[in-house]
Amino acid sequence: MIKQAIIPLAGLGTRLLPLTSVIPKELLPINGKPGLEYILEECLQSGITEVIFIISKRKKAIKQYFYNDSFYKKLIKKNKNKRLIDEYKKIKKYKKMIKFVYQNSPRGTGDAVLKCKNLIKSNFFLMMMPDDLIIKNNCTRSMIALHKKYKSSIIASKKVQNDNVSRWGIFKVKKINKRNFVIKDVIEKPTIKKAPSRYAVIGRYILTKKIFKVLEKQKPGQNGEIHITDSIRTLILRQNKFIGHIFAGKYLDCGTMKGYINSTLEISKNNI
Ligand code: G1P
Repeated sequence: MIKQAIIPLAGLGTRLLPLTSVIPKELLPINGKPGLEYILEECLQSGITEVIFIISKRKKAIKQYFYNDSFYKKLIKKNKNKRLIDEYKKIKKYKKMIKFVYQNSPRGTGDAVLKCKNLIKSNFFLMMMPDDLIIKNNCTRSMIALHKKYKSSIIASKKVQNDNVSRWGIFKVKKINKRNFVIKDVIEKPTIKKAPSRYAVIGRYILTKKIFKVLEKQKPGQNGEIHITDSIRTLILRQNKFIGHIFAGKYLDCGTMKGYINSTLEISKNNI
């Protein structure tokens, strides 16, 4: 069973400057609550019981957000406001399921995942990118169901536009069957010429624990960062089964300013 999730949160958030010079991008409000809460809700609703946040010294506000008990308690003592009590209960519920690890130099997603090596208990775990919101259908839940069926690693995917492939990890695809396909290869942010398809990696991964051994030896790739995509590629080339899942929900990219603004509009329009 998939019970643990890893969420890398140590990134600098440069695409959302100047907001992120003081506020971690994952705490920026989307229709009244931080983007991170939507991700936590998706986890809770799909049976995840433990979430590991990889933060950095710069992003300590994320820990403070969930560890502000004395502040809430003082306020509630003075004023038994229902909204305040409900919000505090919600934060406490999340706090119970979160563990923190630190990645103080931003060396890439692969390096962030490696920091969790000693905390992962089962053979498979979930990894989620907090920039990628998926609304209207719980993508994690569908991926867990697929994992139960195929006992393999699963990665979320969506078809992207030709001129946009170099923003994403791109799959080489075999045997597309409705919403799922066998992944033959994956390339991090290829040029249009080198892109093997238009199917992009979206930030929901069910990964085998074997990835930690590969990550330990992973050399830096694009921009000198350790990419999870490069270690996934090694596992695929060593014949580990990876399935791509074209999710049913609506994708919102909160990692760019344009996308962030659009996410706010979409979520408020849909009243989520
Ligand atoms: C990361 C991954 C990339 C993936 C993307 C999904 O890129 O490296 O393979 O397609 O997330 O959002 P980043 O958004 O960190 O540049």
